[in-house]
Amino acid sequence: MNHPFHILSSAQFDRKFLDYLAVLTDTIRRFNKSKEGSIYLKGLLAHKRAMLYFTQPSTRTFLSFQSACHILGISTHEIRDSSTSSERKGESIEDSLRTFSSYVDIIIMRTSTPGLCDRIAEYLDHTERPVPIINAGSGPDEHPTQALLDIYTLSRNFVKEGGLDGKTITLVGDLKRGRTVRSLAALLTNYQDVKLRFVSPESFRISEDLRQYLVKKGLDFVETTDFSGSLENTDAVYMTRVQDEYDVAGESAKVDYSQYHLTKDHLGILKDSAIIMHPLPRRQEIDPAIDKDPRAKYWRQERNGMWTRVALLTMIFGVDSQIVLPEL
Ligand code: NCD
Repeated sequence: MNHPFHILSSAQFDRKFLDYLAVLTDTIRRFNKSKEGSIYLKGLLAHKRAMLYFTQPSTRTFLSFQSACHILGISTHEIRDSSTSSERKGESIEDSLRTFSSYVDIIIMRTSTPGLCDRIAEYLDHTERPVPIINAGSGPDEHPTQALLDIYTLSRNFVKEGGLDGKTITLVGDLKRGRTVRSLAALLTNYQDVKLRFVSPESFRISEDLRQYLVKKGLDFVETTDFSGSLENTDAVYMTRVQDEYDVAGESAKVDYSQYHLTKDHLGILKDSAIIMHPLPRRQEIDPAIDKDPRAKYWRQERNGMWTRVALLTMIFGVDSQIVLPEL
């Protein structure tokens, strides 16, 4: 298995990688169930340090990456507000991140600037101390590790039915600016006969670059404004919130988003075997009364994020070989 160095985009992963990561994640979860197993994991990367540079709000991604580091013994530093760093004194982002690379072995970063992670990765690659960069969300652009945990959640839920191939996935909400949907849709091109339904208000349809990417990859998809109709015969529904932090002229207020809220009334339309996902945080897209429905998987999905990120870190540092895997 090729080991990734930087994690910048969903487009860098193939099916072999996704299948391997899922088995590795399962195995790590099993290891962690015993005290001996968790002590073993904690020793794997105890000599490494990570910088969590999160200048955009984050709860789950930050905490799950931090916990993932700690599960592997990696010590963590953090910046969550660039006004507390020398960027405030006029230091360039390149110089700031190069400084982190002097002290740590990996940089996990979330920023509001699309393409910044790629730029920094390229820049550090040409210094004497290149360290891996993980994109933990780059504006409305990409969120590749969220897509990895979403794929893990989907494939594990469909394990008895033979996996994700052939499934219909319905992605709902602000598809124009939602980076999780962009990264997940791109990853789903690795599966056979998957069908996507993109459901959104007219003004929040997927962007042209994603549309073209999916066409190029031969993925079967439809775009519609019909939410209830799209819930019929779907295998998974992936809800998202309106991304109003990217409004430039009050776009969000012009849309009636309530038509894209999942309520208890919709549950009868969904198949018994369908699953409900959400990258979280949610607003009113999913009625909390639905949390008790066995098809609601978003809390499990959130926890899967931590385990998927543990697995990914072991691969980046090449210690996955020290975790004995079942035959693939
Ligand atoms: C998402 C994000 O930040 O893009 N959250 C997350 O990482 N789990 C989704 C969102 O904020 O709407």
